[in-house]
Amino acid sequence: MTDLYPVDPAFASQARISGEDYQRDYQTSVRDPEAFWKQAAQRLDWYKAPTRIKNVSYDLDDFRIRWFEDGELNASVNCLDRQLEKRGDKTALLFEPDSPDAASYPVTYRELYERTCRLANALRALGVQKGDRVTIYMPMIPDAAVAMLACARIGAIHSVVFGGFAPNSIADRVADCGSKLIITADEGLRGGRKIPLKANVDAALKLPGTNSVETVLVVRHTGGAVDMQMPRDRWFDAVVEGQPAECEPERMNAEDPLFILYTSGSTGKPKGVLHTTGGYLLYAAYTHEAVFDLREDDVYWCTADVGWVTGHSYIVYGPLANGATALMFEGVPNYPDMSRFWQVIDKHQVTLFYTAPTAIRALMREGEEPVKKTSRKSLRLLGSVGEPINPEAWRWYYEVVGDSRCPIVDTWWQTETGGIMITPLAGAIALKPGSATLPFYGVQPALVDANGEVLEGATEGNLVLLDSWPGQMRSVYGDHQRFIDTYFRTYPGTYFTGDGCRRDEDGYYWITGRVDDVINVSGHRIGTAEVESALVAHPKVAEAAVVGFPHDIKGQGIYAYVTLKAGEAPGDDLVKELVAWVRKEIGPIATPDHLQWAPGLPKTRSGKIMRRILRKIAENAPDQLGDTSTLADPGVVDSLVSERKVK
Ligand code: WTA
Repeated sequence: MTDLYPVDPAFASQARISGEDYQRDYQTSVRDPEAFWKQAAQRLDWYKAPTRIKNVSYDLDDFRIRWFEDGELNASVNCLDRQLEKRGDKTALLFEPDSPDAASYPVTYRELYERTCRLANALRALGVQKGDRVTIYMPMIPDAAVAMLACARIGAIHSVVFGGFAPNSIADRVADCGSKLIITADEGLRGGRKIPLKANVDAALKLPGTNSVETVLVVRHTGGAVDMQMPRDRWFDAVVEGQPAECEPERMNAEDPLFILYTSGSTGKPKGVLHTTGGYLLYAAYTHEAVFDLREDDVYWCTADVGWVTGHSYIVYGPLANGATALMFEGVPNYPDMSRFWQVIDKHQVTLFYTAPTAIRALMREGEEPVKKTSRKSLRLLGSVGEPINPEAWRWYYEVVGDSRCPIVDTWWQTETGGIMITPLAGAIALKPGSATLPFYGVQPALVDANGEVLEGATEGNLVLLDSWPGQMRSVYGDHQRFIDTYFRTYPGTYFTGDGCRRDEDGYYWITGRVDDVINVSGHRIGTAEVESALVAHPKVAEAAVVGFPHDIKGQGIYAYVTLKAGEAPGDDLVKELVAWVRKEIGPIATPDHLQWAPGLPKTRSGKIMRRILRKIAENAPDQLGDTSTLADPGVVDSLVSERKVK
């Protein structure tokens, strides 16, 4: 029997989108995308309304993705200026600090507008022009949004780097896009601990390739001591002071870049996913309103960090373009205790709550008591994003957090897609725990086999998308060929997501996880190649192979096999040293959970590492190794298996 949660009639009677609406509009959106998106584009304010709506070809010889290509607009104007008349005094961002003892405060649309304009003027005065790249390495504070919007206002392309990344990772990202300016803070605060953001930037800028940076703006946040290197480093307060609270926005073409966001892929270094202005903003705003069933008086909280795409689309651009109130939380779910999320919900009367399965699983482990001692009556809808949610966690979220009152939207999407792609609409689509259910408007999923044959009916395969949608990424920054090769060459004529997926008898989609060499750790994408190259950069390491393995809380953990150079002795101290090394090279999110010494790695005769086998060993499923006959030295596998068993 399928576990089905029908649409709640009480919810549906108030909802923006009914089941009939969805069926009808979905059909229109795929039958006549031009008409559908032309109409949808009216939700944005344009200097020049687009007349050419969609110009897309996935044909490798004639490749192009363009939406609204003759339209002109400015993203910050859509998020700020146009809200002033009706919502000037409405809270745009509601800041909740790391510690419940520190003061939370609202930032109204008018204040956000003025702060953005001041910074935008300051950036212009510092020589930042349309098309220049600006790196943002910030804690979860309203100035992070101000920084993004100020870039958007003057047409500078922002590249937000997650505050948990180490200096090397910052340097790689700065170098790749040639940033002219960095906006950071003295320190961040998470769970009572200080994150040395400015010191990390200092260390990054000592690394090669970062000469493009002329200025570092430093927000005073914790007041901690920092080393200011003049004239490069400037206090944020000092440069915005005296700037006018109005700033002439840049008129942007719909296809002008809005931002770059680096994400991990199967191979090589992280790629700079490039999003453009019109299509991205429209898609973020539309999905935010529809999926969260947004109402004027909602208090909406997405727990993601602005360093990830979820923070871009569903803390900053989507909610602000919709005139919503978005809570911005600097802290973590378990500080000062396990009730923190639920207390914040009560304190600010949050109505819409969007978080990740990994957080739910971690909180679930602590039992119901920390949840039950709070009210949560204000909640009316819950969301999940970042990785598959196991049905057990789904039910706990539904029953314990939502008191069996609030529908859950399990939203599947990617950095590359810009916004939510497969999701329930709570007034329209019955829920099944663990399924992202059905496609959003304009989204045409298909499942293909290894040869690219489209599979019909209830089946399992690789998830591709048959046609474009406005929020689609447009390029890999600086490497358009890599964009085409990565996403459009595997199954020609389609966009390949890198995810595996099952479709059931009702046509519902169940994402099964990555089918490439990307590991999803607590909803963060880590490329195995990145961790491997960090490991082999250590002087004692000859070779490394990294795979994912199932992890109760994180979804997937990182399992590293390491071969030492001749003469180096393995030992527990060296395990610790290598784990610390990876944290220092990439950042704490890439910390290996297991490190196994490998006298040799299983390779084909042509020298290719057989990860399939390594994955099975990491999963502790040596009986499922499959065919090992093509290995150059099958004996290697036996020794790895026997080592693994000891643990
Ligand atoms: C996974 C995050 C199952 C998936 C928005 C995807 C999910 C990758 C879900 C993108 C979900 C995201 N159910 N899997 N609801 N949401 N994923 O780029 O593997 O950080 O390809 O974007 O996360 O991660 P990214």
